[in-house]
Parts: sequence; structure tokens; C-alpha cells
Amino acid sequence: MALYELTIDSKVHTVDTEPNKPLLWVLREDLNQTQARFGCGAGLCGACTVYVDNNLVRACASAVATAAGKKITTIHGLNDELAQKLKAAWLKYDVPQCGYCQPGFVLGAHKLLKKTLPGQTPNWNEVTNLCRCGTYDRIRQAVLDVHSQTATGS
Ligand code: FES
Ligand code: FES
Repeated sequence: MALYELTIDSKVHTVDTEPNKPLLWVLREDLNQTQARFGCGAGLCGACTVYVDNNLVRACASAVATAAGKKITTIHGLNDELAQKLKAAWLKYDVPQCGYCQPGFVLGAHKLLKKTLPGQTPNWNEVTNLCRCGTYDRIRQAVLDVHSQTATGS
């Protein structure tokens, strides 16, 4: 066991756990941060996606020790201007069905649009998350809407 200090959505938490315990289990079981979802548990679906510093991480497949001392951002703490536009677009296009996968998708879309220059088309291949409800078309509509706002500066 070892003590780790984790900064989650700007709040510092201390946890005593095994270094190899998946970050997702620490978030959900030890710290009750259930906004990162458990889907496949195998690094495949993206439901557990969080930012660790500026990198998207699948928390089910990432040891807690790798996030110690870094800034973890979940859907709750993702509130910059781009995130606010994405969250508004999610509502505008009524994107979620059951909603379970959606935090991971918003984080994936956020990273994608940060990398996509005005005039470029977002490269959907970079968002490899899975949605069992099949909301992909609405996700793309919402993301393209936000991207067009960025392109026009609105
Ligand atoms: S729960 Fe982590 S990728 Fe599916
Ligand atoms: S909205 Fe249900 S799994 Fe994606």
C-alpha cells in the first residue's frame, strides 16, 4: 500500500492504495467519483475516460500511481469555454439516450476539437469510444456544430 495525492477536478484527495490498482477503481470505489464510468474494464469502450494533465486516459487501464501528482479532470471539472459549448450542444441535439457513455464522449470530443484547426474536419477516428445506444450521429452533429462556432469565432 502507498499514499497517493490525487487532484481531481481541482480538489485534492489522499488515498492509501496499491500502486497498480486501476485509477478507475480508486475514483469510483475509494473516492466515490462515479462520474467516470465502468463499461468494459478493458480499455476498449472509453466510458471511463478522464484527462490526466492534458492527455486522455482510460482510467480502467491506467494504474493509480501514474496519475499521482497530476491534474485529473472528469466531466464534472471540464468547464472551459469549449467544454461549455460542447455541453450546450449535447443538450441542443438531445444526444444522450441512456447517458452512460456520454461523459467519455464529451471528453473525447473536447480533445478532438482542441486538436482540430478551423477549416479542418474533425478526425472521428481519434474518438474510439463506444455507445451501445448508437448515439453516434447526434454526437457528430453536436461536435460539428461546436466546431463551426469555433471556425466562425462565435
Ligand atoms: S471501462 Fe475503461 S475503456 Fe471501457
Ligand atoms: S447513450 Fe447509452 S451507451 Fe451511449
